[in-house]
Amino acid sequence: MTGIVVFGAGGRAGRAVTAEALARGCTVTAVVRDPARYPDLGAEGVTVVRGDVLDAGSVAGAAAGHAGAVHAVSPFSGPEEAVGSVDPGFFMRAADALLDGLGAAGVTRLVAVGLGANLLGADGRMVMDDPVAFPPPLRPFALAHTAGLRRLRERADGPVDWVMLTPAGFLEHGGPRTGRYRVGGERLPGGKGPGGGGEGGDGNDGGGEPWLSYADLAVAVVDEIQSPVRHRTRVSVFNVRGEKEDDR
Ligand SMILES: NC(=O)c1ccc[n+]([C@@H]2O[C@H](COP(=O)([O-])OP(=O)(O)OC[C@H]3O[C@@H](n4cnc5c(N)ncnc54)[C@H](OP(=O)(O)O)[C@@H]3O)[C@@H](O)[C@H]2O)c1
Repeated sequence: MTGIVVFGAGGRAGRAVTAEALARGCTVTAVVRDPARYPDLGAEGVTVVRGDVLDAGSVAGAAAGHAGAVHAVSPFSGPEEAVGSVDPGFFMRAADALLDGLGAAGVTRLVAVGLGANLLGADGRMVMDDPVAFPPPLRPFALAHTAGLRRLRERADGPVDWVMLTPAGFLEHGGPRTGRYRVGGERLPGGKGPGGGGEGGDGNDGGGEPWLSYADLAVAVVDEIQSPVRHRTRVSVFNVRGEKEDDR
């Protein structure tokens, strides 16, 4: 089996993952709902196919024969007013369809992109539960995302070895590719309080601001496809403004 199948390949994370994979000499199957809307996606090494991440049969058809799959799908990317139309079960249904479809196709590695809103803040609450840190109108989207993570955990004993990489802090579209990233735990990195380092933390006790470019998120995603390090778990992925370390 070769190549990576990317669900949500027309989006920001999906495009970054596709570019990173191509740069490493991997072939990519780019899954979008309507290929006609993405004439720019086709490139040498990229096959664009129609697919729906909510349909296990569609997932299996697109994924068969690949070494790994990436879930970079989102039903919402703004504007804020549109959040009301998000299906609260979207990420749960996507998790089920991916696990079922990949399992049927014999594809055993899945890397999913998470949402920083369900990391824990310094006060022990999820970021989404702090109205100062996270806009309350977007909470339904964060809850839907969190339900998807819960579903992956509920089904962690299945044949698909998944990992969810959760960007901590600001995820910058068009930001630079440094090729580096840190990996943390359940807590939002940064700050000297309990949210910073320690058990389940990330060692970012200096309190630097966590941040990640889509390009470096893609580096982490393709690393975890090519050389899996984390299994059936969720981690945070980030860089720290002004620092140049990489704990991988
Ligand atoms: N700091 C953070 O934690 C942070 C920040 C931003 C994003 N994220 C997360 O990163 C992930 C990717 O986000 P993004 O910014 O790349 O989103 P995006 O640019 O909005 O792209 C999402 C893609 O999902 C596709 N999609 C929607 N429904 C689909 C379905 N049923 N089947 C297949 N594809 C479908 C859309 O393509 P079509 O509609 O054309 O099919 C779209 O291109 C999401 O999980 C998002 O929540 C996290």
